[in-house]
Order: sequence, then structure tokens, then C-alpha cells
Amino acid sequence: MRKKTIRDIQLQDKTVLMRVDFNVPMSEGQITDDNRIVQALPTIDYALEQGAKLVLFSHLGRIKTEADKEKNSLAPVAKRLSELLDKKVTFVSETRGPVLEEAVRNLKSGEIVMFENTRFEDLNDKAESKNNPELGKYWASLGDVFVNDAFGTAHRAHASNVGIANNIDTAVAGFLMEKEIRFIGGAVDNPERPFVAILGGAKVSDKISVIENLLTKADKILICGAMAYTFYKAKGYEVGLSKCEDDFVSFAKEMLEKAQGKLILPVDNLVTKEFSEDAEATLVSADSIPADQMGMDIGPRTLELFRKHLENAKTVVWNGPAGVFEFEKFAGGTKGICGILTGLEGATTIIGGGDSAAAAIKFGYKDKFTHISTGGGASLEYLEGKELPGIKAIHNKDCCCEDC
Ligand code: 3PG
Repeated sequence: MRKKTIRDIQLQDKTVLMRVDFNVPMSEGQITDDNRIVQALPTIDYALEQGAKLVLFSHLGRIKTEADKEKNSLAPVAKRLSELLDKKVTFVSETRGPVLEEAVRNLKSGEIVMFENTRFEDLNDKAESKNNPELGKYWASLGDVFVNDAFGTAHRAHASNVGIANNIDTAVAGFLMEKEIRFIGGAVDNPERPFVAILGGAKVSDKISVIENLLTKADKILICGAMAYTFYKAKGYEVGLSKCEDDFVSFAKEMLEKAQGKLILPVDNLVTKEFSEDAEATLVSADSIPADQMGMDIGPRTLELFRKHLENAKTVVWNGPAGVFEFEKFAGGTKGICGILTGLEGATTIIGGGDSAAAAIKFGYKDKFTHISTGGGASLEYLEGKELPGIKAIHNKDCCCEDC
């Protein structure tokens, strides 16, 4: 990898500023999924073992008014981190100023300070989100080196990732960032072939650039989720009441023509008369969705077809569920894909974040994929082939040959 990593630098007695993405789902002040915190632990543990004085930064949610602050405080996250590390985490409920500076100054090797949500600074003319140069410079002045482990935020050019990196002598990737670059970046730039992408989810419009980019990179793209119905319409099939984006039918048609057989659509679907868990479901062929019914999931013949296209794959990237997996009755397609992918021998299997990652974790496949990305928007933009500003700002290794 061309980017410097935490392994490339000395941390002993250094004040290490570490950007993590602890933007975790919360409900009534409780963390409902701590995966992003857990995924950052290897980098945090390593920094502490190496004798760093660790300062953690993260955002949580979006802060537009004073009222947004209370439900988006990082205090519960600091508490959870402390439990996971079994170690004191000093939480400073400021994002700048003398209290924060003193807490940083008083840090000893192996100790951690975490401060409040970086987006509290957005109440000050969007200083964090607009990457206010003074803010990036100020935060950078608090430490000796910067470690960016927040892949989930890498598609944002904010003060706490890009701003700090641009104002400090050393900015490196943490282990999670390194892993995300290696797997998602590696799959897009230099996949071992055959490379098969599976794209699902509700909307073609969310995945236009991903489809366009992967058509030039993947050997096959398997389409599923409600997105498939827009493609069905492009083929002239009746889609009944299924979710379908009429404005994107011509795009779907264009992609089908361009793909020359690379785009594989589902051949059967579970359909219902209404969008409900209890609705009676019928299995129909792709070209036979009744006018008064809607597609809810892919069927078993599609899973068999997908299995055939996947069996020799060496790299698989999956983004977007196959059906309405939140309803048990329509989770079969998404679970089936989890089963097929985790049964492939010798393949690198990657979930590009978002709902498919949440589904795989929910169905107990968390440790069975090669990599499940912690990014949502970031993984999508990476799959689109974009250069992510948070990654770009990490400093390159001194030697920049292809192999390093
Ligand atoms: C995410 O959850 O995708 C990241 O933490 C970025 O959050 P944002 O979309 O609010 O910038």
C-alpha cells in the first residue's frame, strides 16, 4: 500500500491524534450496534501498547441546531469504549479550549482522552464539515502525529480528517483504514479474477456510478433487490406494483446494452399484494409479475443462477440486500447470498457496507466474510472509483513503488 500506516512510525511518548468513525446507531442514548467501535480496537490497542498518549476524535450524527447536541453527545460512546478496552477513557465534553488542552497536556503514555463530537463545531459556521482551515490547524497543533482510522468518513473532506492531515508532519492510516483500502480499493483496482459484483438495494439511482464503474472492472454483475425491477421494465417485463424508478429505465436499458451479457438479472421473485410481513407470498418468474402484486425478494432459481456465476469467482464484492430482509419471510434471498458467498473456497468475499453488511451481521455471518466494510457512503463512493479525500490526505510512503 502506498499510504503510510501506523506501523511505519514511532509512537512511544508521542501525543497521537486518532480520527475514528464512532458514528454508531443510537436509540434513546443507548448504542444499538457497537461494531464500528469494536473494529477500531486493534489500532487503539496497538497505539497504547506502543506507548502513545492517545487523543480520539469522532463525529456522531449531524449537528444543525443546539438541540441536536444532547442526543449526539459522544459520552455514551466513550463509556462503551472504556468497557471494551477495560481501561479508563477520559471524556472531555469540549471540542476546543483550555480544558481540552490541559487534558491532552496531562496525558501519560498508554492513556486515552476522547473529546466531544467534532460536528459540534458545525454550529460555528459549519467549521468541521466545511474544513475550516483554522480548526484543522488548531486540532493538529494538539498532537505530534495523526492516525486516520475513520474509513466511514473518508468520503468527507472535513477538518477532523483532511484538515488535521494537511497541518501535521505525519499522517498515517490505522489498521482498519488499511484493511478497507486493501480490500475495497484492491477489489476495484486490481481484483483477482473472475471478479463478480453483486448489487442490490432499493434504487438504481443510488448506484448509477457504481454500476458504470463496475461494468468496466467486474467480469459479472449480479443484480438483485428492488433495483432489479427497473431493469425488468427496461427489458419490457410487467413489474406490477413493485418499486420501480421510471426515470431510470432508459439508464437501465443503456447498461444492459453496454454490458453485453455481463449483467445478470433475477429469474424469479417472491411477490405479494401488499408491503407487509404477513402478506401471502407467491413465487413467479421474472417476466410474470402480476399487475396487482409487488416483488419482495428473489426466489430459489435466482439463487441457483447466482451460485453458478459465483462458483469460480476469486473476488466478490456485494453491496445491497436481495430483498426486504427486515421481514423474515423475505430474508431468504439475502441469507442465501450470505450462504453462497461464505461457502466459496479460495475467494475473497467483501461486503461493501450499508444494509447488506447489517444483514450479514444480523444473520450470524459476521466472521465468515473476508471483509465487511464499516463504511456506508464511503464504500459506495470507493466502489464508484472515486478518490476519497480522507484517504488522499494520508501521507504517502517515502518509497512509492507499486509494490510497497
Ligand atoms: C457514515 O455513517 O456513513 C459516516 O459516519 C459518515 O456520516 P455522514 O454521512 O453523516 O457524513
